[in-house]
Amino acid sequence: MPPGSQRVVELGAGTGAITDALLRHGIQPQALLAVEMNPVLHRLLQRRFPDTHVACGDARHLHTLVHATRTFAPGQVDVVCSSLGLLTMPHDLQHDILTAAFQVLHPQGVFIQYTYGPNHPLDDGVRQQLGLECRRVGLAWRNLPPARVYVYSRRA
Ligand SMILES: C[S@@+](CC[C@H](N)C(=O)[O-])C[C@H]1O[C@@H](n2cnc3c(N)ncnc32)[C@H](O)[C@@H]1O
Repeated sequence: MPPGSQRVVELGAGTGAITDALLRHGIQPQALLAVEMNPVLHRLLQRRFPDTHVACGDARHLHTLVHATRTFAPGQVDVVCSSLGLLTMPHDLQHDILTAAFQVLHPQGVFIQYTYGPNHPLDDGVRQQLGLECRRVGLAWRNLPPARVYVYSRRA
């Protein structure tokens, strides 16, 4: 997580492993919005994290979800952290999700993606179309299998 990050959105929060790690890392519950489209997992997340904003919806509609939950104003988010299976998604869906994420991020905000595959999780054509640059920042060895971490930001 970049130093000073305060307002965080997590996409595809699932059962909450990353949500829990973000909170333990010091992100304030009220400054975290976890998004999950599966209603069963959404309810589980609500029970597990009663002080955190948890939205049931599609990451493609992030702008509306941020607005509806009144967590923070769109354009003020520091980090969108994604646990989505981006690698296996069609390119137009990748495009729509990344577009939605960069709509809520502030100009220096970053999109962080965890992935288990050896390849870049975002299609290169989509990355170029959206004017993004990418850097790999690490390998989470404690994960099984180890997760690669990529950071996407607007090209300077
Ligand atoms: C790899 S799992 C998340 C793993 C998570 N870190 C955990 O602890 O369980 C990906 C999650 O993304 C959700 N998901 C997939 N597509 C989505 C979308 N378009 N919008 C929101 N959530 C989505 C799935 O329902 C699934 O729970």
